[in-house]
Amino acid sequence: MCKKPYYITTPIYYPSAKLHIGNTYTTVAADALARFKRLTGHEVMFLTGTDEHGQKIQRIAEEKSVTPKEYVDEIVAGIKDLWKVMNISYDKFIRTTDDYHVKAVQDIFKKLYDQGDIYKASYEGLYCTPCESFWTETQLVNGNCPDCGRPVEKAQEEAYFFKMSKYADRLIKYIEENPHFIQPESRKNEMLNNFLRPGLQDLCVSRTSFNWGIPVTFDDKHVVYVWIDALSNYISALGYGSENQDLYKKFWPADVHLVGKDIIRFHTIYWPIMLMALGLELPKQVFGHGWLLVDGGKMSKSKGNVVDPVVLVDHFGVDAVRYFLLREIPFGSDGLFNNEIFIKKINSDLANDLGNLLSRTVAMVDKYFDGVIQAPAAKEDIDDELINLALATPKKVEEAIDKLKLPEALEVIWELIGRANKYIDETTPWILAKDEAKKERLGTVLYNLVESLRFASVLVSAFLPDTSVKINEQINTEVTSWNSLASFDGTSAGTKVNKGAVIFPRIDVEAKIKEFDELKAAQDKANGKRDMIPLKEEITIDDFDKLDLRVVKVLACEPIKGAKKLLKLKIDLNGEERQVVSGIAKYYKPEDLVGKNVVLVANLKPVKLRGELSQGMILAASTDDDSELFVVNPGELPTGSQVR
Ligand code: ME8
Ligand code: MG
Repeated sequence: MCKKPYYITTPIYYPSAKLHIGNTYTTVAADALARFKRLTGHEVMFLTGTDEHGQKIQRIAEEKSVTPKEYVDEIVAGIKDLWKVMNISYDKFIRTTDDYHVKAVQDIFKKLYDQGDIYKASYEGLYCTPCESFWTETQLVNGNCPDCGRPVEKAQEEAYFFKMSKYADRLIKYIEENPHFIQPESRKNEMLNNFLRPGLQDLCVSRTSFNWGIPVTFDDKHVVYVWIDALSNYISALGYGSENQDLYKKFWPADVHLVGKDIIRFHTIYWPIMLMALGLELPKQVFGHGWLLVDGGKMSKSKGNVVDPVVLVDHFGVDAVRYFLLREIPFGSDGLFNNEIFIKKINSDLANDLGNLLSRTVAMVDKYFDGVIQAPAAKEDIDDELINLALATPKKVEEAIDKLKLPEALEVIWELIGRANKYIDETTPWILAKDEAKKERLGTVLYNLVESLRFASVLVSAFLPDTSVKINEQINTEVTSWNSLASFDGTSAGTKVNKGAVIFPRIDVEAKIKEFDELKAAQDKANGKRDMIPLKEEITIDDFDKLDLRVVKVLACEPIKGAKKLLKLKIDLNGEERQVVSGIAKYYKPEDLVGKNVVLVANLKPVKLRGELSQGMILAASTDDDSELFVVNPGELPTGSQVR
């Protein structure tokens, strides 16, 4: 029988920074889907890869004094290693620097130009000369370049543009007529209402200010800019436009592009429009997942809260990490990662529920029957309850997967695992074992448990491939096909179990968290970081604006009797004299300060300290342990000058 093709993709990653648990999430999710489709009889093409061009890569390479290609080669090798660690079963890994991709992109660009969808014009923007980057008004930070903080200026650059607007109506119609095209639903409305209906701007698709990109064949000062290059990977990987189009014919259109919510717009607007312009079919679905957050913030290198998947795998095993990502992150919304939630989940679901079911069952077969699985005898009602749940589970899992609801799929499997554990408590095999007359019943109970484990093993195999193999080893089965779950008799009586190691040892939560904290501290230290008092919650510019900081001059200064730490300062604020009490006596003698300018929090509500009025607060920087302190020096500005 001809297998149904299934084509699934992840985004192609920028090799500009180390991948973190957030990127890992997309790829693990795609892997689980790919494995599940293979298990259920599809011919799968699972594509992932790297998006290697662009100014940022060129700049990093320059900083490192290597060529961009040398730089990306090294990072890409690391990414491939990571996917090995995570057990990612991709069928193809595309690099946008691969020859066939370069050629496909050049052909696509030329075709779009020849048919009038791409035209040459001039790109106007705000340019940062040192960074050689264009920015839009909204990208600027305080009116300056968001990368280097230096001023930008209006500039023009010759560029090619793609006529997006030409296809907008067709795309709106397509999205409306294909309710499953953009998932989850909320993202669909966002795309229609925020982008498509208000009107699309033409997209800039080439650049001349850097050259690490795919050259435009008919105008070689230009390189293809970002999205035409990146998005085309989904078809170039299949040989689109090459001599051999077999894969393209078999797998296109894709069943699902799995992407993070930040790039859903490119996948549901630019990409479909590109495909329409090329006269190609649109992907069946684009699924935009949420962010994986680490204790509140989006994970990113710059925030310093990157969670290294390799470290997690080292400590807990790959399937613990896979399980957490797939089970705990509601598919389509944001999810939270922190060490404690993670470890507790492993303990409860993997060590307790699944691990215990396996070790208890195998231990009992070992103890009561010398390891030999007995043939089941007459059933009791309670057996039927377990068996019927087992038989109903595969379909429920399949339904959840078809809606891309990975946590729900695992939940359904864990219901069966929970039911099997409950069955042990209900049937009390250790009591049956005491009565020779109940030996046959005991054999039946244990058979049902082993067979339930076999079900669990097949069911989890797409999500936790290594665990599935370990279960199969211990229950000694080779009956692992999806179809074998059609009846509850895949375990062969007479088979001998292999009692093995505990598959998920229970983790001491507190000890592990402590170990992790120490590890993190050691890493930070190695990276030249020290323990810092954690940053406070984010505020807005409006919050900040409430503070009124002013330059003031110290007119007089004296100690306060009975308060060793405090100094009393008379200050001048543009003619207004104020008194301020400050805890700086340990660091400054009064005469050190007189005549100096300092910074005052001028609108702080006055208070009395040791009976002395304090009308504001002097700004100072200090070490965490207060061993050193420096009053902030605003230079020789007139008093009353604002500090912002
Ligand atoms: O965007 N949680 O590449 P990229 C979940 N090259 N997902 C996250 C995440 C987090 N904390 N951080 C990042 C690009 N991601 C382009 C794609 S496709 C033709 C071109 C996800 O390396 C992010 O949403 O910046 C995106 O889907 C993926 O990682 C790759 O991001
Ligand atoms: Mg990105």
